[in-house]
Amino acid sequence: MSDIFAYDESRASTYEKFTSLLGKVAEADETAALLEQLSRGGGALELGIGNGRVAVPLSERGVRVEGIDNSESMLKLLAKRTDVIKAWKGDISDFSSEQRYDLVYCVYGTFTLLSTREEQIACLRSAAEALTEKGVVVIEVRVPPLDGFVGGQKTTTMYVDHENTFVNAVLHDPVNQNLTSTILWFSGTSVRRLPQRVRYVYHQELDTMAECVGLELAERWGDWARGAFTNESKGHISVYRRTSL
Ligand SMILES: C[S@@+](CC[C@H](N)C(=O)[O-])C[C@H]1O[C@@H](n2cnc3c(N)ncnc32)[C@H](O)[C@@H]1O
Repeated sequence: MSDIFAYDESRASTYEKFTSLLGKVAEADETAALLEQLSRGGGALELGIGNGRVAVPLSERGVRVEGIDNSESMLKLLAKRTDVIKAWKGDISDFSSEQRYDLVYCVYGTFTLLSTREEQIACLRSAAEALTEKGVVVIEVRVPPLDGFVGGQKTTTMYVDHENTFVNAVLHDPVNQNLTSTILWFSGTSVRRLPQRVRYVYHQELDTMAECVGLELAERWGDWARGAFTNESKGHISVYRRTSL
């Protein structure tokens, strides 16, 4: 059975435009700047590297970047952009690496694409095992957007310009902490469907999961410019180091 949430050929072919319209391509350099600082001159591993939106500018800053993704189509996009970044097909909830990294990072909510608690903990465990002694794990996730649901459903307009409209229809499953959404992308006379499922986590649950695998919170930011994480923040960047004994 095909996985409707996978980053298949069709989704990969529109990823650059989609992320560009949402401002994520413009944001990538600022993301890379903070990740470069956190790598402290060492090597980095990106979990769910995709088309290299962040990995490419990070590598251009002189950081040796490697990556894992489970989508052949996304890995092909990356390979078209660069031959400097080594990336391989794998599952970020179950990987091991001989190599040790000073920075293991997972951005743009990719961590929450792991749709169970067990997969998320396993991902953090694999990430912790891949660290050098002084290395850090960086996770960027959204604050769960649970406002405005009626009867477990919510529909919002995510983006509009003169050519494109993104309408997001979301179902909330509180028992499993899942948000299952379909983004309908209207463009000219066409409409595309982009299905997605996330298992949302609050920052304190993320900290507890990290603690379970021998990590502790070192820093938390509300944005890539090191803005404070506050009640108004829409997401956070959490930096974990190995627990000091
Ligand atoms: C939202 S995109 C983010 C891509 C890139 N990190 C970025 O910031 O633009 C999520 C990526 O994670 C990959 N992915 C999703 N689940 C995965 C898993 N279990 N193992 C490996 N890669 C996964 C997808 O194929 C996709 O490339």
